[in-house]
Amino acid sequence: MSTGAVGRAYPRLEGREKVTGTARYAVEYPADGITYGWAVPSAVVRGRITRIDPAEALASPGVLAVLHHGNAPRLAHGPQPELWLLQEPAVHYRGQFIAVVVATSLEAAREGARLVRIDYDAGPHSTVLAADHPGLYRPDKVNPSYPTDTAEGDFDAGYAAAPVRVDATYRTPAYHNNPMEPHAATAQWRDGRLLVHDSTQGASPVRATLAELFEVPPESIRVVAEHVGGGFGSKGYAKASVVLAALAARHMDRPVKLALTRQQLFGPVGYRTPTIQRVRLASDADGRLTAICHDAISQTSTLHEFAEQTAVYTRSMYAAPHRRTTHRLVRLDVPTPFWMRAPGECPGAYALESAMDELATAVGIDPVELRIRNDAQVDPDQGRPFTSRNLVACLCEGAQRFGWADRDPTPRARRDGSWLIGTGVAGSSYPARARPSSATATARPDGSFLVRINATDIGTGARTAMWQVAADALGVPPERVDIRIGDSDLPTAPVAGGSMGTASWSWALIRAGQALREKLRDLPGGRAPGEVTAEVSTDDEVGGQPTLPRYAYGAQFAEVRVDADTGEVRLNRMLGVFAGGRIVNPTTARSQLIGGMTMGLSMALHEEGVLDERYGDWVNHDLATYHITACPDVESIEAYWLDEQDDELNPAGVKGIGEIGIVGAAAAVANAVHHATGVRIRDLPIRLDKLVGPSALA
Ligand code: MOS
Repeated sequence: MSTGAVGRAYPRLEGREKVTGTARYAVEYPADGITYGWAVPSAVVRGRITRIDPAEALASPGVLAVLHHGNAPRLAHGPQPELWLLQEPAVHYRGQFIAVVVATSLEAAREGARLVRIDYDAGPHSTVLAADHPGLYRPDKVNPSYPTDTAEGDFDAGYAAAPVRVDATYRTPAYHNNPMEPHAATAQWRDGRLLVHDSTQGASPVRATLAELFEVPPESIRVVAEHVGGGFGSKGYAKASVVLAALAARHMDRPVKLALTRQQLFGPVGYRTPTIQRVRLASDADGRLTAICHDAISQTSTLHEFAEQTAVYTRSMYAAPHRRTTHRLVRLDVPTPFWMRAPGECPGAYALESAMDELATAVGIDPVELRIRNDAQVDPDQGRPFTSRNLVACLCEGAQRFGWADRDPTPRARRDGSWLIGTGVAGSSYPARARPSSATATARPDGSFLVRINATDIGTGARTAMWQVAADALGVPPERVDIRIGDSDLPTAPVAGGSMGTASWSWALIRAGQALREKLRDLPGGRAPGEVTAEVSTDDEVGGQPTLPRYAYGAQFAEVRVDADTGEVRLNRMLGVFAGGRIVNPTTARSQLIGGMTMGLSMALHEEGVLDERYGDWVNHDLATYHITACPDVESIEAYWLDEQDDELNPAGVKGIGEIGIVGAAAAVANAVHHATGVRIRDLPIRLDKLVGPSALA
């Protein structure tokens, strides 16, 4: 780390390409003889296809083929049953892709899709999550591999004996990832080899999945993901788009482009499970927690168990002698839920940080002070000291920057005309993990360097951050370094996900830089006659790292105004302070943090998948009806971070910042709404009809 590129605010390397439109996304690569695929969704929730009649579609101009379970190439079973597409007549959820129309133009494919006649035998279905659903069960573990339930002490006795108690149930609806670029792929087979341009968070795992499904060696598949227009978790695994494109391309023996429509993102690519969360907190008269219980209920599909780790946040956040967490699931006739920014931590923190606010009110102390009093330097779950935990420092700096000190805790105490004004706070935390990666570094005779790693830049600025890390590792100015990412032909690397990308990739790049410098040191004059390359893998080093509680922390503050007559909620300002280890690039880091916070605001006030039980599907499946916070909804938003050094993380000293920005953000907004109005809304989103309803403002 000699030249100091890390920590400097470089603009994105590919920024110019992106704003001038020359950066290519998955379906923007030209190919000879290109055709267009259009996915056909099931119109029933559960049942069997009894007949598919493609005649009318095939007679439509430009339509080349209709693929379905009767004629599509065969797939092997892979680890994700929802990717076993066009293989069987069974329908497992509404919107499941059951056919693909291939045509010479996009318009012809879309028209063809409209003309495919499909008959079904449909059965009864169950699609609504309920706390008393008879199908509730206890999964063996929750994602990624946490114990389902935990218990320490005697919660029931501790809770019963406490002088102050809070017992509240919070509900969050289904949330849908809406990256700007939909899930999309271009696929072409040539001489038994498959080339795919995919919109994914990780080309290496997509290659592995396609190899399994199509039963070909991974070496014969190349997956390119040079530029990706957002993912938020939904592109963290191979999805229907790439499988259907590859199936159709094989069937046609021609290149196929297939992009899901905006409407098709609402379900088939995964969504954040709705949750029902009961949180019980008990404390002594000073607000010191004595008992904590978090019982979380969420849903999965009949195809595949996806067990969101909703209550895991509560295991490590605050300490108490009596603690319990549980997770229950129900299998519904729905698409399988999937990752969405901070899966588990995000909805879990909404519930716990809301309950903490309710406890502060019950005890009669300030909610910042309540969190400081219950700070834990030893992880209550693992029983070991956190490698670093700067929650209190974040709370204190945030309180000072936000101007928290003079806050009158009384709800409805501040008013400006018809606006009621309130402020809220929440804690935030997200695990700091890393995965094994590989990378190469090459010295060229002209004194420049090339680093290669199959990292993915899903819009985060990862390419630029990794370029900075590599330059420092090589000990040269970044202008002398070229970086290649986003291609499965490059050294294998993990997905951009779990806030692990920067930690994992930089680990490999630092080791590659060190290895190359050692090689060069042995050469006369330290210079290579030709190219010299060092190749590394961090498999052993990452695998051998001791298991310690490693977490990033944050404090979220929000000020809202609520119209006393109409219940309209507006966000005046939002401020977050985070402790995320070393920050590689302040410009891209800030955009990650305020992006996460904005998504948390969106969760608090806007987003909601509204299920129509009769059709077993969400009725609001476009951006006109599924509301997402936009720029005018965010009047002021600020993100800060602490200088934090933690030597027990990884060589770059980073914790990951892609997800922590959303954690706690919705609770801060909900707590501010309560402070403004005196009304506690426990089912998101906070809409004006809930605020002006029977119990509320009026
Ligand atoms: Mo993120 S939901 O781990 O891609």
